[in-house]
Parts: sequence; structure tokens; C-alpha cells
Amino acid sequence: MYEKILVPLDGSVQSQRSAEYAIELAKSMNSQVVFIHVIPVLPPYERHQSGSSESAYQHLHDDLRQSGEGIIENAKALFGKEDINASYRLLWGNPAMEICHFAKEEDISLIVMGNRGLGEIKGYLIGSISNRVVRHASCPVMIVR
Ligand SMILES: Nc1ncnc2c1ncn2[C@@H]1O[C@H](COP(=O)(O)OP(=O)(O)OP(=O)(O)O)[C@@H](O)[C@H]1O
Ligand SMILES: [Mg+2]
Repeated sequence: MYEKILVPLDGSVQSQRSAEYAIELAKSMNSQVVFIHVIPVLPPYERHQSGSSESAYQHLHDDLRQSGEGIIENAKALFGKEDINASYRLLWGNPAMEICHFAKEEDISLIVMGNRGLGEIKGYLIGSISNRVVRHASCPVMIVR
């Protein structure tokens, strides 16, 4: 039924759990699975700031890229041996917007994601990325708890 499943990953236990769930679904329905991580873009750096903040900005940018690449490498190591048709994408941007845009462009039939992620605030039922994707995606979204 679901030909192409999108699994957004942020390195959290919950996103890992949603990936395992999606893999089982994919096996039972012979679906393709696309694992995606979106590196959050930083607000634009203003050129007139001092040299030291430029290098701080660069460090932050490099750290974000490194951790994003790590999430995808980790996913490849964990899920690469599963008997599914898997692919991996690393994007930059606003995570919820990129997830919804990608899902539309790539004809995704189902998004499977965690209820929470790496965020510190635990008071809400679901995190802000899940919340936005549920509201804006043009395909069904499954939230795994
Ligand atoms: N940058 C991202 N790239 C891809 N998927 C993401 C990203 N951030 C979150 N997700 C997905 O969204 C799910 C929920 O995470 P979300 O960020 O909404 O919650 P949170 O981190 O607990 O809260 P918040 O980020 O609002 O503080 C994760 O389990 C993961 O599936
Ligand atoms: Mg988060």
C-alpha cells in the first residue's frame, strides 16, 4: 500500500524507534524507504561582525554538518544490512519545511517519525518538528511513540 516511506532522523532514540517501525512496515509491504536528516540552517551571518564571531559561526556550521553526516552514516551502518530498498538523504534548511517539501517532490506515500526528538522541553505531547509535519504534509504521517 505504501510504496515509498520517508523516515526523518535526528539522532534521537525516538527517531531510531520510528525507523525500526518503518523498516518492519516496509518489509511487509515491499516499500522503498528514504531516510532523511535536515541540518538546521543558521540565521544569515552579518559580514560587518568581528572576525572572531565569523570563526565562531564557521565552527558552529562545521559542527552541524559533522553531526548531520554522523546521523546519516550511523543510519547506513544500522539499517544498511536490512533486506529493504533504502536510500539516504542529507539536506540543509528548516527541518519541517524540507521534510514536507521533499515528501511532495518525491511522491512519498507515508512519513514515519518520532513523537519527540533531541529537544529538552518534555512538557508537550509531540515536538515542534512532528507537530509542523503533521499539520503541513500532503501525505499521511505516522507518529511513533
Ligand atoms: N533535523 C531533523 N531532521 C530530520 N528529522 C527530524 C529533525 N528533527 C526532528 N526530526 C524528526 O522529528 C521527530 C520529533 O522531533 P522534534 O524535533 O519534533 O521533537 P523534540 O526535539 O523533542 O522537540 P523540539 O525540537 O521542538 O524541541 C524526531 O523523532 C525525528 O523523527
Ligand atoms: Mg527537535
